[in-house]
Amino acid sequence: MYLVTGATGNIGGKVLDRLHAAGHKVRALTRDPGRARLPAGVDVVAADLGDPATLPAALDGVRKVFLMSLGHNKATHDGNLVAAAEQAGVTQVVQLSTLGVEEVDEEHDTPLGRWHRQAEQALTGSSLGWTILRPNGFMTHALGWAPGIRDASVVRSPIADLPEALVAPEDIADVAVRALTSDGHEGAVYSLTGPEALTTREQVAVLGEVLGRELRFEQMTLEEHHAVLAARYSAQTADGVVKALRTVLESGDDFRGRVFPGIPQALGRPGRTFRQWATENAAAFA
Ligand SMILES: NC(=O)c1ccc[n+]([C@@H]2O[C@H](COP(=O)([O-])OP(=O)(O)OC[C@H]3O[C@@H](n4cnc5c(N)ncnc54)[C@H](OP(=O)(O)O)[C@@H]3O)[C@@H](O)[C@H]2O)c1
Repeated sequence: MYLVTGATGNIGGKVLDRLHAAGHKVRALTRDPGRARLPAGVDVVAADLGDPATLPAALDGVRKVFLMSLGHNKATHDGNLVAAAEQAGVTQVVQLSTLGVEEVDEEHDTPLGRWHRQAEQALTGSSLGWTILRPNGFMTHALGWAPGIRDASVVRSPIADLPEALVAPEDIADVAVRALTSDGHEGAVYSLTGPEALTTREQVAVLGEVLGRELRFEQMTLEEHHAVLAARYSAQTADGVVKALRTVLESGDDFRGRVFPGIPQALGRPGRTFRQWATENAAAFA
């Protein structure tokens, strides 16, 4: 039995769908099964990574886990899951971390990097088998532009000219499933990027071509971006993300523009380009 955390979300949802479609026995972890829309035939368990008492039942009979958690709670939440997984006899955890855990020096370190580094250490310091996925920024960031594109053909972002080798969530999920269902991934750390680096302005140009409409780019301030993130996540998480962005924008050259080999290494094929991702997801902008 596989346990998928974040099963109602972005990466976890895709991992769940792929495991289920391939005929594996899968259990979805969610805080609210009543709200979760999950495929028929998937086992669903109510649990909260912040509440260790809920985890033994979620892990009963589980051999392998896809683990994701959010923001400033990452180290605590991943630590809770790891401790319960050790008790439950789990053999392997595939953990969603982030690029930048190793790439930044002390001077440019941010809360975001620290949260992920501590979460990784909770897993690698355990007795469990582990595989770590370190993705760059997700291409799905562009979905946040959909309302502005629909209403006014405008994209607003705090980042304009920074090259980023963004990665498609579909590719992250493919790597996670490969690591969970085949041998040879224990102790592996996969740094996951797309095959090219594009600035936000270049992404907007590609998106305009794919959608067949002229799009305008408007730069927003980091303060405006903070307000958007705080409404979506929490003030503390917004602080961490904006601090990381400020560091990136001020330090200029950055790991986010580098292409890493994790996807070809794990899957034997290149990752999706932004154009491929936008073409596959064009309906979300219509
Ligand atoms: N976004 C990026 O560009 C980026 C880049 C690099 C790395 N990452 C990593 O990827 C993560 C985000 O992944 P994602 O997009 O897949 O997230 P997501 O789907 O947006 O996260 C939502 C999921 O988190 C679950 N969740 C939230 N709080 C929980 C709790 N206390 N207990 C159990 N489940 C909880 C929700 O489950 P329920 O609501 O059903 O309970 C939901 O399924 C980041 O935190 C970071 O580690 C992101």
